[in-house]
Amino acid sequence: MHGKSDKNGDKFLNLNEEAIPMSQEENSAGRKVKSYFSVSFGLVLIDKMLPYDLYINSSTHAKREKFVRIFHKGNLLEGTDLEEFRRKYHQLYVDEAERDLYLQSLVKVDGAEDVQKAEVIKDSAISYLKSVFNSEHEFTNEVLDETIEGCRESVESMVDVIEDYDITDVHKLIGQLSFHDFYTYDHSINVAMYSISILKALNPKADRKDLVVAGMGGLLHDIGKIKIPTRIINNPGKLSDEDFQVIKDHPDFGYGLLCDHDCSHHEGVDFDIIKRVVHEHHENYNGTGYPNNLKGTEISVYARITAIADFYDAITTKRSYHEVLSTQDALEVMSHSVGRKIDPKIFEVFKKNVNIILEGKSKIQLPDDFDPCQPQNILPFDKIGPKIQRSDFLKKDEQDFGRVKTDKKDNKKGRAS
Ligand SMILES: [Fe+2]
Repeated sequence: MHGKSDKNGDKFLNLNEEAIPMSQEENSAGRKVKSYFSVSFGLVLIDKMLPYDLYINSSTHAKREKFVRIFHKGNLLEGTDLEEFRRKYHQLYVDEAERDLYLQSLVKVDGAEDVQKAEVIKDSAISYLKSVFNSEHEFTNEVLDETIEGCRESVESMVDVIEDYDITDVHKLIGQLSFHDFYTYDHSINVAMYSISILKALNPKADRKDLVVAGMGGLLHDIGKIKIPTRIINNPGKLSDEDFQVIKDHPDFGYGLLCDHDCSHHEGVDFDIIKRVVHEHHENYNGTGYPNNLKGTEISVYARITAIADFYDAITTKRSYHEVLSTQDALEVMSHSVGRKIDPKIFEVFKKNVNIILEGKSKIQLPDDFDPCQPQNILPFDKIGPKIQRSDFLKKDEQDFGRVKTDKKDNKKGRAS
């Protein structure tokens, strides 16, 4: 009934006429040609106007791809059309130049799980981050520009998918996503999602553009690491003092990269905030952080949010280096850094949003110079001795901010898993 020639008219095209030769960035003559990314059948928008073209690879040779457009954007793709494609073709593709349109359409796809959508968004964010973190590529302003725009597209879709998520929901979603290279990509993507969620918890009426900026800050917070030698970045052991000094340059490097780059054409994105996140995410609330020993509200609120997201993800998300803490233990450990490393008021909101009642049993803490951005074989816990009491931090917070209380009656869901 839904044979393409009689029903769909010009939206289905003659394969031979639309053949495009190769998927590489440059062909043998050095001329730039299009590239394509694969898309799952279940994540193609149906019963609405399709905002992107669909392609297949018609080549039978693995090394000689030949992409052919099989469906024109602007036409209605019905479920039966997609079923026909599923029967006939192994894989669908979209032009890389239309990735933003594909990502925007994801939120409208009915019947797909959020985790499937988040996986696509994660893959996209990784592909953009790779273009700056991959040392084999020449780093140019153009590359940075494409990365920033791609990160923005990924974050826009992220904001849509996690729109109704609290921090516990984000944690569960992260646990379902596939693992790549934790400290280079996964961690930044996780920090982006947590940052969006924390900002929403702080201000449920936050504008979409503010949520996007929070997410972009999280995604790009460690961009300065592209200038740090890989042997130091990937060292999961204890760093020498010399190497730690090198690591400590990454906020300045990242800030410099963004300042040297003309960001004015990325309309609707406040790059001054993103630059501050990149520059200030290792500042500690009590002024003991780096690079400028900023303290309290001298640190951008977005950077204070990122610092909490960074800390929480580093100790709760499983990766190849160390075992992770339960939500309960992670919050207990973080609570010992309140007022020193992290902002007390933001942490109170974070804790309530996680919806967990702390039991105050943890006898371990992480030092103020714990670096959530760095691989660790073993988390460098300290036992809490008599000199370091949590009440001391709260006493200081009370002096500085007034008493901060946790309303346990609000925690109706009980302990998170
Ligand atoms: Fe960092």
